[in-house]
Amino acid sequence: MFDLIDLKYSGNIFLGRIVMKFLVCVDGSEQSYKAIDKAATIAAGLDDCEITAIYVYHIDSLVGVGEAYFTEEMIRRVHEQSKEEGENILADAQKIFEKRNLKVDTLLKEGHVATTIIELAEEGKYDVVVLGSRGLGGFKKLLLGSVSNAIAQEVKASVFIVK
Ligand SMILES: Nc1ncnc2c1ncn2[C@@H]1O[C@H](COP(=O)(O)OP(=O)(O)O)[C@@H](O)[C@H]1O
Ligand SMILES: [Mg+2]
Repeated sequence: MFDLIDLKYSGNIFLGRIVMKFLVCVDGSEQSYKAIDKAATIAAGLDDCEITAIYVYHIDSLVGVGEAYFTEEMIRRVHEQSKEEGENILADAQKIFEKRNLKVDTLLKEGHVATTIIELAEEGKYDVVVLGSRGLGGFKKLLLGSVSNAIAQEVKASVFIVK
């Protein structure tokens, strides 16, 4: 049972039951698998929840400054490959949640990674954004990566950074 104070602060209340909305950010990294696992463990203990797994791809960062040297066909291929990679990562996340009897929606978006997640967290009225502290990036000495750092600072919802 939740008391009135909990109810007052909960974002999503549906017919007296508390529905928590989770936005789980996945990039295929070990850390993001840990984030999936933690989110699933917490969600499994709740009355009700809605889970969305999101992957954002950003071809500008792949094509980068050399864009002038890429043909349209090459850019189209990079786009297709990034999308396919995202679909695989999301399908994997979906399997993990479903194995634990949790329903999950998947979202594949194109755009700047942190900005896209920050905007979506706001629009979708998520209660918690779950992500790994680090991802696929190389320089591991910093505690947070660029995505987790931006999300921790700018998302208005609660942010759960899994180490
Ligand atoms: N493209 C992405 N789409 C969705 N979530 C992402 C993406 N990139 C990173 N994340 C999330 O952010 C976490 C931290 O990654 P990031 O800040 O990119 O660290 P790094 O700099 O080590 O790659 C990841 O564990 C994942 O949960
Ligand atoms: Mg990264």
